Amino acid sequence: MLNLSSRLSAVFDQVRLARAGLGPGRVIDVGSDHGQLAVSCLENGIADEVICTDIHEGPASRSRQALKDAGFEDRSGVFVTDGTDGISLVNGDIVVIAGMGGLNIIDIVTRCIGNTPEDILKQVRFVIQPQKSVNLVRKFFAERGFVFDDETVCTDREIFYSIMRLNYSGRPYELGAYRECYGVLLPDKESSGDALVKEYFAHLDKVFGIRSRSDMVVRQALKERERYEDK
Ligand SMILES: C[S@@+](CC[C@H](N)C(=O)[O-])C[C@H]1O[C@@H](n2cnc3c(N)ncnc32)[C@H](O)[C@@H]1O
Repeated sequence: MLNLSSRLSAVFDQVRLARAGLGPGRVIDVGSDHGQLAVSCLENGIADEVICTDIHEGPASRSRQALKDAGFEDRSGVFVTDGTDGISLVNGDIVVIAGMGGLNIIDIVTRCIGNTPEDILKQVRFVIQPQKSVNLVRKFFAERGFVFDDETVCTDREIFYSIMRLNYSGRPYELGAYRECYGVLLPDKESSGDALVKEYFAHLDKVFGIRSRSDMVVRQALKERERYEDK
């Protein structure tokens, strides 16, 4: 059994929750690198089959080897491709994109949803863990009509990561600066006393306090946060 890092464990937890509401199906791990998440999904019965993609041959070979070593060669496919290009999504798929920059994630998901019929998209779940530009990722998903099923925070080697689990409704909406920057579901978790989210928000307050001098959206987010806290 693989020992995942705290960050990948938190991603894995969201994949498990996505599967619980979806029935059997595949996990598509985009940017799979070492293939650890894919192996864990098969080991734990969270995927019938896994598809790993990576834009580089080196990481794709690592995934292929990890799956072979774990005895899952016949239940996996590894492809060198950009995002999900060339992979047709089917009902029950869970698409995981973890450990990549937000702009890269937006680019990958834009093409992925453009290539997927709406009725199938509604039967697919996305688990996303951006390394940066998290606010842009949240804004993107809301504007493209995705609902946030869950949003969590974890720390790994003293760095905060946020993870989101999404499903497609096809009804776009606006989040506003506060929820783009602090999270869609995290503010309510903070209000209900979630200790890690509180720590995360204290960290964001510091970072955004500095960034607000040059970033209008962040400045607006801090104003909205004050209003939210007054309620
Ligand atoms: C930092 S690793 C993260 C690996 C793993 N997902 C994780 O969370 O631990 C990022 C991986 O994504 C791959 N990658 C970057 N851009 C990609 C893209 N557009 N399509 C597919 N893979 C990509 C990189 O080659 C690398 O192996």
